[in-house]
Amino acid sequence: MTVSESNNTQDSGTKRTESDRTGSEGDFKRGSVHLQNLRKEFGDLVAVDGVNLKIESGEFLTLLGPSGCGKSTTLRMISGLETPTDGDVAISGKRVTAQSANSRDTSMVFQEWALFPHMTVGENISFGLEMDGVPEDERETRIADALEMVELSGYEDRQATELSGGQKQRVAMARAVVREPDVLLLDEPLASLDRKLRQHMQVELKDIQEELGITFIYVTHDQEEALTMSDRIAVMNDGQIEQIGPVDELYTSPETQFVATFIGETNLFEGTISNDGMSLQTDDGRFTVSIPHSADDSGRSAAVSVRPEEVVLKPYDDSSGYANEWTGTILDTIYKGSLKLYRIDVNGKHFEVERQINEETTNFAEDDEVTVSFPTEACRIILD
Ligand SMILES: Nc1ncnc2c1ncn2[C@@H]1O[C@H](COP(=O)(O)OP(=O)(O)OP(=O)(O)O)[C@@H](O)[C@H]1O
Ligand SMILES: [Mg+2]
Repeated sequence: MTVSESNNTQDSGTKRTESDRTGSEGDFKRGSVHLQNLRKEFGDLVAVDGVNLKIESGEFLTLLGPSGCGKSTTLRMISGLETPTDGDVAISGKRVTAQSANSRDTSMVFQEWALFPHMTVGENISFGLEMDGVPEDERETRIADALEMVELSGYEDRQATELSGGQKQRVAMARAVVREPDVLLLDEPLASLDRKLRQHMQVELKDIQEELGITFIYVTHDQEEALTMSDRIAVMNDGQIEQIGPVDELYTSPETQFVATFIGETNLFEGTISNDGMSLQTDDGRFTVSIPHSADDSGRSAAVSVRPEEVVLKPYDDSSGYANEWTGTILDTIYKGSLKLYRIDVNGKHFEVERQINEETTNFAEDDEVTVSFPTEACRIILD
């Protein structure tokens, strides 16, 4: 399709409420989305490989993952623009897998906005309402309300071509929400905006979602964007969901090496847990890392993840007293706003260490010899 689809066919006068509806398949909340064993094949290629996901009514859920991992395909199966090879989609408790896109209570916003260039802002937003048969006076009120929400009041008569990128994206949002969908699907809607505007729009989108109280399913490959806006993030890799959870949980308790490295930076030690469950010996034989005791996992192949801010730096002849301590050489330092990132060579492995720039310990320079350490509690064990 060529336009930013609005698939909503609710009665024009329907106002969104938080009340439950009871459907043929049991109790559910309006706007909830349930994916069961969702699969999509394109010829030999498996784009989405058995996705199971329950999204709550009113939740801001983000599908996050690298290019080609199946995010857009998953979103398009929720909207009905793509038919699953297998599995089911339920919206508001009703199975909609076999239903067409325009009979689902969803609207979609795309990266490229796809406004009609020959129309005004008002006509762009009005288009879907006219298709739904909404009377003119009601259309005018709803368009004005939608424009107010995206802070473009008074822009009704402006040509779509006479807008900045950020304004076009707001009009695309207004066009999607004006039809009062139960679920709004957004596929990298801010990707074409510059960094400053993108950050501004992230906050605005989150505000709009909270104001509307409707379910947002948001696709991005930008972890910072996902962390800023989401209630929960589903991290996708290779057609599957690796882990789903609130932002802080994904950061502090990654369950796979992929999640540990995709959400934030980390120091990974891959190896085998000792028979007494007290340490991990790296495969290359260079490190023995003391870990929180894990008797059940003794002898298992695993990785230890240690976040850069958990690593302590001391001068060469100083000790932190932590169980894990080595000497190393500073390779380089990178400023990241209020943080300073050190890359340190320890035994041939490159450690990443992060410090606030106002901390005393930031006074290290390239080629300095240092003591690098972290406590066993900083170790997150990820079993293979
Ligand atoms: N219509 C199609 N025909 C054939 N292959 C497709 C089609 N649509 C998607 N694919 C393939 O399916 C896989 C998943 O694509 P998808 O667009 O869902 O990825 P994505 O996670 O959205 O990536 P990106 O971040 O680059 O947008 C990719 O390998 C892609 O090439
Ligand atoms: Mg995509």
